[in-house]
Amino acid sequence: MEHRVRIAQTGSPDVMSYESFEPPEPGPGEALVRHRVIGVNMIDTYHRSGLYPTPMPGTLGVEAAGVIERLGPQTSGLGLHEGQRVAYAAQTTGAYATVRSMPAERLVPLPDSVPDEVAAATLLKGLTVEVLVRRVHPVRFAEPVLLHAAAGGVGSLALQWLLHLGAKVIATVGSDAKAALVKEQGAEHIIVYTRDDFKAKVRDLYPEGVPVVYDSVGKATFEASLDCLSVRGLLVSYGNASGKPPPLDIGSLATRGSLFVTRPTLFSYTRTRAELLASANALFEMLAKGALKPHISRRFLLKDAADAHRALESRETTGQLLLLP
Ligand SMILES: NC(=O)c1ccc[n+]([C@@H]2O[C@H](COP(=O)([O-])OP(=O)(O)OC[C@H]3O[C@@H](n4cnc5c(N)ncnc54)[C@H](OP(=O)(O)O)[C@@H]3O)[C@@H](O)[C@H]2O)c1
Repeated sequence: MEHRVRIAQTGSPDVMSYESFEPPEPGPGEALVRHRVIGVNMIDTYHRSGLYPTPMPGTLGVEAAGVIERLGPQTSGLGLHEGQRVAYAAQTTGAYATVRSMPAERLVPLPDSVPDEVAAATLLKGLTVEVLVRRVHPVRFAEPVLLHAAAGGVGSLALQWLLHLGAKVIATVGSDAKAALVKEQGAEHIIVYTRDDFKAKVRDLYPEGVPVVYDSVGKATFEASLDCLSVRGLLVSYGNASGKPPPLDIGSLATRGSLFVTRPTLFSYTRTRAELLASANALFEMLAKGALKPHISRRFLLKDAADAHRALESRETTGQLLLLP
């Protein structure tokens, strides 16, 4: 019998229920993937809480690694075969399950060098980082960068990739324990932004401001992040961990020094299979050379997915969280 974690209404983690189900045969263009490891992402909590709309009732989750169990019709020419190890980072929900039918063209074949757990811990988050530091803004050697929530799932991978590029990273974190972790990874400056005014600290370090800020925290940091930028600087607002950022007065970008703001999502940068595979290859190269090391801090059974949500939302986690079917 197959199992999945469903919600029939939005709300607290209590709305999640673990149930059995009969998976449908894969349709045209689809592959049935047997999940070995499932990635937990902040976006899963947005789907559950209702911050991001998702079909209801529905199965949560957007990322997993596993094996192709069955290929549906019209799936040739993608370099996929039954029994193959694959992973995916999906725009649509359905990963909190023992098996799932996925559009085959969104499956990424896994090299032997990338174990299932590493794939589930890094595909969605690592592709996001590839997009952020190489394509949304190609970070230059010795460039000062402000990175929020640097001990988190995406944040810890972003920190490592930025350091690999030679950036001078100012990392913000929510606690001293997280500061110690980020220090170990080599961040140049660390600010505990739950205690200290990060805008003042950034201006102490760089009186002219920094050219780029990566902000996944949203509501709580958005305005002050803009205030950290140098003239013609770029705010990359890519998440809402504390809630949606406030509405933006475009005119304020002029008075603050002709600033740029972008709100990227992974999926607009991996729309085609070629873009998806190129991004994944860049990630796999970083993993293979040891420049990127996931920090899998906790594993939960799939049936206990609600506990993973509680941990993520209470800000007590670092690195990546996994669900085991
Ligand atoms: N745009 C995209 O395509 C894309 C793709 C993937 C992820 N994201 C975004 O990237 C961010 C990180 O995702 P993740 O899955 O790796 O999660 P995560 O960073 O492991 O967890 C979220 C972190 O945000 C910080 N935070 C600040 N205020 C918070 C609050 N009020 N409640 C909860 N957390 C708060 C916490 O770190 P501190 O305690 O250190 O503050 C927390 O650990 C999320 O905002 C997510 O939406 C965006």
